[in-house]
This record gives sequence, C-alpha cells and structure tokens, in this order.
Amino acid sequence: MIQTRSFLLVCLGNICRSPLAEAALRAAAARAGVDIEVDSAGTGAWHVGDPPDRRAQAVALAHGIDISRYRGRQVAAADFWRFTDILALDRDNLAELRRRAPADATARIGLLLDVLPGREGAAVADPYYGDAAGFDVTWADVSAAAEAIVAGLVPDRRSRGGGNP
Ligand code: 4NP
Repeated sequence: MIQTRSFLLVCLGNICRSPLAEAALRAAAARAGVDIEVDSAGTGAWHVGDPPDRRAQAVALAHGIDISRYRGRQVAAADFWRFTDILALDRDNLAELRRRAPADATARIGLLLDVLPGREGAAVADPYYGDAAGFDVTWADVSAAAEAIVAGLVPDRRSRGGGNP
C-alpha cells in the first residue's frame, strides 16, 4: 500500500513524551491496518543517541510495546519535507518548530492534542522531572491522540479502496 501520510512527533528531549507518542501511533495504526510512517524527534540535542527514559520504557512495556531500541534524535531540516505532518507535544515545541521551519516546507505543523475535541491547544505535560505516575498520564494522552489520528485516516483509506460503492 502506498503511504500517503507520515507523522513526526516532537517533544523537547525525545526520550519521554514523543517516543511514547510514536509507540502509541504505531500501535494504533497497526491495529487499524493503516499504513503510515511514524517517527519522533526532539527540538533539543541533549539526548541524541540515547534510549528512552527508563520510566517511558516501563509504561510502554506495561502496554505491550518494547521501545528499548528507539534512539533519541534531533529535528532536522529535511524533516520539514520528509513528513506530511509534524506534531508537537506542547506549545513551546510547536513554537520552536514553526521558528525552524524553512519557508517552503511542505509538512503541516500542529499540536498533537488538537486532534482531541475539548483538548485543542493543550499540552502533553512533561513528565521528566516528576514521578512514574506522570508517565501514565503521558501514555493516556498520547494513546487517545493516536486513536483519534488513526480514526481520521480510516475513511481516507476506504474512499480510495475501490471496494463497495
Ligand atoms: P521529553 O522530556 O521532552 O518528553 O523527552 C524531557 C527529557 C529531557 C529533558 C527535558 C524534557 N532534558 O532537559 O534533558
């Protein structure tokens, strides 16, 4: 199947929120049989090459997903053409993405939680300086957003399917 949409999830460090968003979106797409490309990155460079925070790995594993092989990377200029959608986990990172976006970038840049009715404009809170319970909140937020993204893609797929009229 031709991939028509590709998503880059972006937080600050790429070790807590955006790897969980990547995992949740990959899982939701697989469950729905939707073929999309998914990746994550950080606006900051502190954790380039690092695996996700062990608390993020633990919450993903509790939901059946092994993210231990993910590695942190920083947003790159090429991402603004490579992905159809670049979604920030909070407004600071959204502002940073808009600041860095080349003038002729093709990616749509937005806020992840804008896909959830009633949560528009909201941030996925940064759990890095908190305790493990914060990562459960992160997982709940990114999973809900992932389901909403995939739900929005399924009609696209059907309309091109050439099946029932
Ligand atoms: P993330 O969390 O942006 O959700 O990956 C953070 C991870 C590391 C740092 C900040 C936020 N840091 O300052 O190192």
